[in-house]
Amino acid sequence: MTNTTAKFTIGDKSWDFPVRDGTIGPSIVDITPFYRDSDHFTLDPGFTSTASCESKITYIDGDKGTLLYRGYPIEQLADGGDFLETCYLLLYGELPTAAEKQDFDSRVTYHTMIHEQMMRFFTGFRRDAHPMAIMVGVVGALSAFYHDSTDISDPHQRMIASLRMIAKMPTIAAMAYKYSIGQPFEYPRNDLDYSSNFLKMCFAVPCEEYKANPILARAMDRIFILHADHEQNASTSTVRLAGSSGANPFACIAAGIACLWGPAHGGANEAALNMLEEIGTVDQIPEYVRRAKDKDDPFRLMGFGHRVYKNYDPRAKIMQKTCHEVLNELGLGNDPTLQVAMELERIALEDEYFVEKKLYPNIDFYSGITLRALGFPASMFTVLFALARTVGWIAQWKEMVEDPKQKIGRPRQLYTGAEERNYVPINDRG
Ligand code: SDX
Repeated sequence: MTNTTAKFTIGDKSWDFPVRDGTIGPSIVDITPFYRDSDHFTLDPGFTSTASCESKITYIDGDKGTLLYRGYPIEQLADGGDFLETCYLLLYGELPTAAEKQDFDSRVTYHTMIHEQMMRFFTGFRRDAHPMAIMVGVVGALSAFYHDSTDISDPHQRMIASLRMIAKMPTIAAMAYKYSIGQPFEYPRNDLDYSSNFLKMCFAVPCEEYKANPILARAMDRIFILHADHEQNASTSTVRLAGSSGANPFACIAAGIACLWGPAHGGANEAALNMLEEIGTVDQIPEYVRRAKDKDDPFRLMGFGHRVYKNYDPRAKIMQKTCHEVLNELGLGNDPTLQVAMELERIALEDEYFVEKKLYPNIDFYSGITLRALGFPASMFTVLFALARTVGWIAQWKEMVEDPKQKIGRPRQLYTGAEERNYVPINDRG
């Protein structure tokens, strides 16, 4: 642990602020007293150089392209365990024993149903409502039904709310999908694992027995693991900021879902597939790569680039492998969209613009092709991202609430507006 300080000098005044090291990764300069001592704010739009909190949950090394959940590499978790094991790890900080895992799975399983009255929320939406709009509304409304787990000062209620969120998101997501295609809702089943249960609620129909494909269920489960958490990304920061005011966890998760919807964030998987389908054939790729490099053209390669990863997103590699597994299992190995994606990736990774700006495929580049092959429309892709990220949001929310130094988030600003001036009655204005 270094005990160095950072000296700030403005004019003839100087101040020293402590430098703190993390376990791994960049150190920080603790500027908490900066405004009190210097009467200046610091400005960092987009928080490119700003840490908002201390956390023990997830670590990303953008240069090496590594991602750790509670210290465990994402590759090992994706290969070794299932999504609920990752949920336990993110929430409690350690991998579960066999007994702990069985108890956790059981507790999640017995919270998968939602209050029957909540069905009415769905029928209030137009049939063509985007499923993400439904998710924001219905998840926010959970706080109207589960008052017994909204007292965030009670550790037991915090844990019940966490379990309810993890357990009910698949049910709500599947209902949003069924509503959008005019099919009856399917109830969860207690004899199915988390991801098989979700696929059954999405694709079973009352007219026939549903048989989950274990290879597809395993792929779905792995996709959830890849999306579970990712440090202080935009939607997680939204959940933390909403939670810092003491808002109930369901409202905070609804805020996170709203933020994730943006095409620069969780909406990129839907945008990436739409882009690949717009490109259509391999011979069209050079034109789109040219447009992506043209400063006057707002077009960007969706599924490429990342604020933190300046190397290959490790999740994208696993997603690409999963994509091939799913397409091969379904006999879609020659999917033309996959051919376009692979050729686009090859071209972009050799192009000096992308190399110089360190733009690599991110998790969203291959996920759309995979999810479409699993049977989901593009409008459901970000819903699946939100389903998986709920455990990350909840774990980060819980860490923030349990931090004794926690206080309401309230940034300041550089004001460049009008100086004080007097009101002019409307009849005296020019
Ligand atoms: C997710 O934060 C997270 O961890 C998010 C996430 C998670 O798990 O929570 O990983 C999930 O959101 C993944 C990212 C999904 N978004 C996309 O795929 C959309 C396309 N990507 C870009 O919009 C962009 O790369 C961002 C938003 C992802 C990152 O933007 P930054 O960090 O603000 O970088 P930037 O916009 O400043 O870009 C740096 C340069 C710019 O050129 P210059 O102005 O320096 O000349 O790279 C260029 C950009 O124009 N650039 C791209 C590009 N991404 C950046 N050029 C073409 N195509 C792209 N995709």
